[in-house]
Amino acid sequence: MTNNNQTVIDAAIEARDAAYAAYSGYRVGAAIVDDTGGLHVGCNVENASYPLGTCAETGAIAAMVAAGGRRIRTIAVAGGGETLSDCVPCGGCRQRISEFADGDTRVLLLDGKEWRAWSIEALLPKGFTLP
Ligand code: THU
Repeated sequence: MTNNNQTVIDAAIEARDAAYAAYSGYRVGAAIVDDTGGLHVGCNVENASYPLGTCAETGAIAAMVAAGGRRIRTIAVAGGGETLSDCVPCGGCRQRISEFADGDTRVLLLDGKEWRAWSIEALLPKGFTLP
């Protein structure tokens, strides 16, 4: 991984520390580098009314959009219980990432001890687009 990837990975791991996972105990952090180099983070925010909980990726995307970012260059997702472990974006978040991704977008996910880069096409083949 390049230093650039390490920066966004570190930001995702740090955002994970802020997660509000009061019900599942499963903490997730996400960090995005947008097309202007801006860094945006999010974490999961759960709720006593379970379906209202939001994913880390959703929060990071909202932060990017609110800051004016429109394209995801890189997104790293860090999840796990007590300690960091492999975590892949849920189906809904794959679609949300896809909205702001292109063929060059890197999705960085932990795979055992290694971080691996995925394309959104590999994670979400035939994602929905409006005709
Ligand atoms: N979660 C995320 O934040 N991102 C994902 O891609 C998968 C799941 C959160 C939602 C919930 O707060 C917890 O992980 C357990 O499902």
